[in-house]
Amino acid sequence: MSAMEEKVASLKAQIETFAGKEAVDVENFRLKYISKKGVISELFDDLKTVPADQKKAAGQLLNEIKKLAEAKFKELNESIGTKDTNAEEIDLTLPSIPNQVGSLHPLNLTRYKIIEIFERLGFSVADGPEVEDDWHNFTALNFPENHPAREMQDTFFVEKNPDVLLRTHTSNVQIRLMKQQKPPIRSIMPGRVYRNEAISARAHCFFHQVEGLYVDKNVSFSDLKQTLYHFAKEMFGQDTRIRLRPSFFPFTEPSAEIDISCLICKGKGCNVCKYSGWVEIAGSGMVHPNVLKNVGIDPEEYTGFAFGMGIERVTMMRYGINDLRLFSENDVRFLKQFKPVF
Ligand code: PHE
Repeated sequence: MSAMEEKVASLKAQIETFAGKEAVDVENFRLKYISKKGVISELFDDLKTVPADQKKAAGQLLNEIKKLAEAKFKELNESIGTKDTNAEEIDLTLPSIPNQVGSLHPLNLTRYKIIEIFERLGFSVADGPEVEDDWHNFTALNFPENHPAREMQDTFFVEKNPDVLLRTHTSNVQIRLMKQQKPPIRSIMPGRVYRNEAISARAHCFFHQVEGLYVDKNVSFSDLKQTLYHFAKEMFGQDTRIRLRPSFFPFTEPSAEIDISCLICKGKGCNVCKYSGWVEIAGSGMVHPNVLKNVGIDPEEYTGFAFGMGIERVTMMRYGINDLRLFSENDVRFLKQFKPVF
């Protein structure tokens, strides 16, 4: 047996018995037997040195071992292929996992809707501070000094300075607006307010209001009533009815609470409307002459109406929500039910 024949015979045995389970074994096989620098390639190079009469037989032998190595390589590849997740096996046509998109908070959805309705009536939107002084929150609004009316709204005071407090209503912005602008003034003022109240399904230590103010010559109570009636129909549907009940606020005279017909029971009576068929959504009235004087507007020349609406109340009616605490608990199962609108 020639040297070449011996080498080929030993290679044949090695190749046939080669066992590999991992991709790395298959790669080693490829490097050793198949690649250009592998042992079989080397033997082909050695053909030059084989005497001419044996060349043909040797060449055939080498071709056979080359084919054997290639067949073995294919077989090895197939045997590991099923176990290995190669890049080629990822199905690029599958749809991707969708990105979770957040939704707008229901109180924001309601606030945007309220703004939209009043903007169409020519109201602008104004803003004011949540940390306020006594004058803007109480005194300028005709709350007498040390008068029990101040206790109507349980106030959070900033401890070291009782003149600094968290506003108890958005009416402070009425004062700021009227100090800054001359009539006609027609604005709504949404914002957060704070009261020292025990948290329950119906009350919270913070909530949201939209203040409304219209000051001009000849503004009358019928303007107030018609504006709020229009609002109720736009917000809750054309069948909605409103009811005005006499009330008291130091900064309006006369004053009225505004109720809407309960949308949850359609007036039949339920726990939300306390079986009355009506739900209170706002306080309102004609701006008190003392308030106009306090901000330097002549009450002989101008009159105005104002209202303060609870955004939570409106939202509860709109979506049939029966617990105020849901708005601030940030439970995603609650929040995700409100579709984003852009
Ligand atoms: N500020 C009052 C409240 O919070 C509501 C109100 C606003 C009433 C404007 C009359 C006019 O209860």
